[in-house]
Amino acid sequence: MADRDVRDLLPMCPGDGVAEIWARDVPPVPEMYKADSFIDLGPGHLAASRYTSAEFFEAERTKMWPRVWQMAARDEEFPEAGDLVVYDNLGKSVILVRQPDLSVKAFWNVCLHRGRRLRTESGTASELQCPFHAFTWNMDGSLKQIPCRWDFGHLDEAKMQLPEVRCERFAGYWFVNWDGSAPPLAEYLAPLPEHFARWGQERNFTAVWVGKVIKANWKVVAEAFMEAWHSIATHPQILPFTGDANSRYSMWGDHVNLALTPFGVPSPHLGAIPEEAIIDAFAGGAGRNNEEALPITLALGQTARQALGARNREALAALGYDASAASDAELLDAWTYNVFPNISPWGGYMNNISYRWRPWPDQHATLMEVRVLAKAPKDGPVPRAAEMVFLGEDEAWSSVTAWGRLGGVYDQDMANLPHVQEGLVSSANNRVELGRYQEARIRHFHATLDKYLAR
Ligand SMILES: [Fe+2]
Repeated sequence: MADRDVRDLLPMCPGDGVAEIWARDVPPVPEMYKADSFIDLGPGHLAASRYTSAEFFEAERTKMWPRVWQMAARDEEFPEAGDLVVYDNLGKSVILVRQPDLSVKAFWNVCLHRGRRLRTESGTASELQCPFHAFTWNMDGSLKQIPCRWDFGHLDEAKMQLPEVRCERFAGYWFVNWDGSAPPLAEYLAPLPEHFARWGQERNFTAVWVGKVIKANWKVVAEAFMEAWHSIATHPQILPFTGDANSRYSMWGDHVNLALTPFGVPSPHLGAIPEEAIIDAFAGGAGRNNEEALPITLALGQTARQALGARNREALAALGYDASAASDAELLDAWTYNVFPNISPWGGYMNNISYRWRPWPDQHATLMEVRVLAKAPKDGPVPRAAEMVFLGEDEAWSSVTAWGRLGGVYDQDMANLPHVQEGLVSSANNRVELGRYQEARIRHFHATLDKYLAR
């Protein structure tokens, strides 16, 4: 459905939408991004118990999580042969192992002898050896050694191959799926492979990685990043350069949706403001990260959006990339994609952001991870991923200095969430109401969840 069609169907924020803002961009935004896709799921409410009940959580655990593609690692976490990553979620654990030819195999993280976890941490190894009795496997999953082999004459070596988990790659991300009958990753992610092809995020690397346990349901946390319009109350400092209420919300199939929030234009809530005020607010440190908070000059007759786009084009050129055909939209706007159920990879060329959510460990708490994916210089190696900083309960996101004032934005977001959970637990009417358009991605997310729960 084209942008225009959505507006014919539903009431929209007055003023310019993404289509009008993009129409002024030079170079032009590629046509494939202009083609919107909106699924109207109506005005219905959600039951608050979806976020709080142990029964609902158990249904998710048994019917949904084992059947979906989950982001388990980025390439730069385990770039060399012998590097491995352990990914755990809801009691299931997988080891992703980098092979000598740099391909990746993923195995159930369970010793076939007495069931101990083979690995409890990511790292580097030359074999997979159980710390309990030293049953040992080669890195390709074939059996290497059984101590006291004389006592295990009944075990056939061919049947002692470590069971594999499906594992596929997209844009530097590795996904795993326990379900042998799930569609291939590219089909599950469509149209993301096509959308991301121009942006070369395989050359992005985890420059900052921060995790913290948030006392709210995993969907409460994820949904706090599915719409931009909470900015009016939660992030007032970004309104001068964020078109929050003219964001475009799109959905494709069951698993992918997008909030496209234009940057470098003021919020419709502010009305017209001077272009200098847009630049000042952005450069004042509320921008996406340190690099983008560098001084920006506004040339005569230039809009703030053009100046910010040009600045990012120069930043890419300084890394050796030809960004002359990159639109301001792809250099500047917030392309907050969501892949059901638990990852939000931002699109675009620049330093990007990526979120991941996991229940930790029940329906009332979530491990929230935020990464800044920086672009590696074109002619150099992609650096290894930074280690995750695991914040304690009382540590603020802004205590991390490596990402400038971005941490302050996350403090604002996370401050709401435990109180959302408390309110849902004590809801008077067991109802959550949603905006028809701006919260349509949340409906889409729950509609997909219901499809899994109904299987
Ligand atoms: Fe936010």
